[in-house]
Amino acid sequence: MDLFEYQARDLFAKHGVPVLAGEVIDTPEAAREVTERLGGKAVVKAQVKVGGRGKAGGVKLAGSPDEAVEKAGQILGMDIKGHTVHKVMLAQTADIKEEYYVSYLLDRTNRTFLAMASVEGGMDIEEVAATKPEALAKVPVDANEGVTEAKAREIIEAAKFPAEIADGMVEVLQSLWVTFIKEDALLVEVNPLIKSGEGKLIAIDGKVSLDDNADFRQPEHAALEDKAAANPLEAAAKAKGLNYVKLDGQVGIIGNGAGLVMSTLDVVAYAGEKHAGVKPANFLDIGGGASAEVMANGLEIILGDPDVKSVFVNVFGGITACDEVAKGIVQALELLKDKGEEVTKPLVVRLDGNNAELGRKILSDANHPLVQRVDTMDGAADKAAELAAAAAK
Ligand SMILES: Nc1ncnc2c1ncn2[C@@H]1O[C@H](COP(=O)(O)OP(=O)(O)OP(=O)(O)O)[C@@H](O)[C@H]1O
Ligand SMILES: [Mg+2]
Repeated sequence: MDLFEYQARDLFAKHGVPVLAGEVIDTPEAAREVTERLGGKAVVKAQVKVGGRGKAGGVKLAGSPDEAVEKAGQILGMDIKGHTVHKVMLAQTADIKEEYYVSYLLDRTNRTFLAMASVEGGMDIEEVAATKPEALAKVPVDANEGVTEAKAREIIEAAKFPAEIADGMVEVLQSLWVTFIKEDALLVEVNPLIKSGEGKLIAIDGKVSLDDNADFRQPEHAALEDKAAANPLEAAAKAKGLNYVKLDGQVGIIGNGAGLVMSTLDVVAYAGEKHAGVKPANFLDIGGGASAEVMANGLEIILGDPDVKSVFVNVFGGITACDEVAKGIVQALELLKDKGEEVTKPLVVRLDGNNAELGRKILSDANHPLVQRVDTMDGAADKAAELAAAAAK
């Protein structure tokens, strides 16, 4: 989960990374009082989960409370690369002498953590990385040892940070590391980390991405979720523990195993080219060992999507045999009927692999009017696309 700048700032503050005072608002008028509290002037910053706000006009200096109201009015509602600004943060203004860059991230390729640091901080670290790679220091950090003082000094030396800020930088690097570890983050980035007129180091802008796999031991992270932005179907699926991603097509997809589901999406998109251009409506992997309940939950989510015109259930029996899956489908249909959510859209089911014959027989015997069996993946995809195209007419 990516965080907003103001949430990143809160986590930095919690772990001792120096930040400026700031407050988040969602109406222009609220800017007046906040700016007065901040000392009469403020930087007005769009809160969007996308980079390049400054360049897009989403970061503006306001020299008075009135001006802050005006700037907040300009920024709220603005569209930045497809993200609408619903909130702005007002921050104290800083007297910036230098702008540096520091971050920690998970370096999957090298199976380690990585510190990155540069004296060329500011707006565009990606450009620095591309055009002046020597200006971006990369130092591996051992997960067990972490950022000791010696490691911090190694990073400082590699980045060629000036000697007069070295001691302050050790502290910042260590508290940023604590943030990274304690919050189970995949990325913590400060850009810029500034040197102020008084020679202090302050984090002016931050990006934090949290590892959702650690949610079970980070109960406080649930509150950081941006519920307004979450797709309601995805939120409902998440609540049921399903691996679901909403897409913008018309053919609902259920499969077992991420790889099979990915290829199902491809096959359906391909088949759709012949059928009015219909496309997959979602990704949904019900995993191995899917019970009737999981199948019912999956169907419920997919049928709750008004864009869905047909459903393709693509199962390759492995450890979970096809007869179990077929029983699951039949029970799921009954379960939904009992709940008053009877299936009204056509279902195409392809069963192959372990115990396929038995599974197919179970479906044939159940003889549900909206369920069709097609025994090849391509054939089933074609049928599901055809039905979706017909229903969409
Ligand atoms: N509180 C502040 N006081 C003075 N100047 C600021 C302040 N906040 C930001 N700035 C200036 O604006 C520039 C851009 O700000 P910031 O890094 O927050 O946004 P951004 O880099 O455009 O956004 P993103 O990181 O999303 O691309 C900073 O490099 C800094 O020069
Ligand atoms: Mg920035």
